[in-house]
Amino acid sequence: MMQIFRTVQEMQAFAAKMKKEGKIIGLCPTMGSLHEGHMTLMRAARAKCDIVIASVFVNPTQFGPNEDYDAYPRRFGEDCKKLEAEGIDAVFHPEPEEMYPQGYCTYVNVDGDITHKLCGAQRPIHFRGVATVVTKLMNITRADEAFFGQKDAQQVVVVHRFVSDLNLPVHINMVPICREPSGLARSSRNIYLSPAEKEAALILSKSLKKAKAAYENGETDVESLKKIVSDSIRTEPLAAIDYVDLFSFPALEPITKISDPGLLAIAVKINKIRLIDNVILGAK
Ligand code: PAF
Repeated sequence: MMQIFRTVQEMQAFAAKMKKEGKIIGLCPTMGSLHEGHMTLMRAARAKCDIVIASVFVNPTQFGPNEDYDAYPRRFGEDCKKLEAEGIDAVFHPEPEEMYPQGYCTYVNVDGDITHKLCGAQRPIHFRGVATVVTKLMNITRADEAFFGQKDAQQVVVVHRFVSDLNLPVHINMVPICREPSGLARSSRNIYLSPAEKEAALILSKSLKKAKAAYENGETDVESLKKIVSDSIRTEPLAAIDYVDLFSFPALEPITKISDPGLLAIAVKINKIRLIDNVILGAK
């Protein structure tokens, strides 16, 4: 039977009991509104860990003032059914006040170049919120393993950074992007898309596919690969580019040619809905 915990104290007591029994604990942090992409995280965790804890928490500290915190989809009942079907052991579903009680004033700030580019350039407080909540979730659940999707590749880089810098005893697992049959990367925000917008959103994966094909045919010049993506996105009237960028992966350093793995990452607005996608070129 899957257990649901809403307080830090209950969650900690469960984790302490599992630790005492020598269990390996896996954590899948989510903001709920779960889709097949999340399920790939759950399955990876289920295959590797004795106990799998999913957190479902729409984290207010990672949303900027003009972002979609209030409108972010919340579907806890449906989420629980999906998690139960995957054999998840426990769900942590706190209220914001439980995670950030009155007087709360401690944040984990990954203050390097890696948080200032790509999504960090447009969303200045985003990664501070992510690093803070993920650190708290790791501590509360006593996770040995934590699972994140490649769709948020920069988030994975940031999590690696603070886990290493703060000597947290957690191993990070990156799970490949899960796509709809059309190629669209699965995202909780896809439900905002009208049918026409969903069709237009295919330009993200199509443009990355073009660049990947060019790379496989020998194109390693970063500016040329970025241009292939931008030119392709500009053919879609509903799409507006937020960024198209390519950095080394996982260091996220500027490069001019791809020799080692490079992260080709994009953020595109389809009307008002901002979507991200990426491909890692040259991964072994
Ligand atoms: O990727 C997400 O859904 C969130 O950023 C995370 C990791 C659950 C932290 O709130």
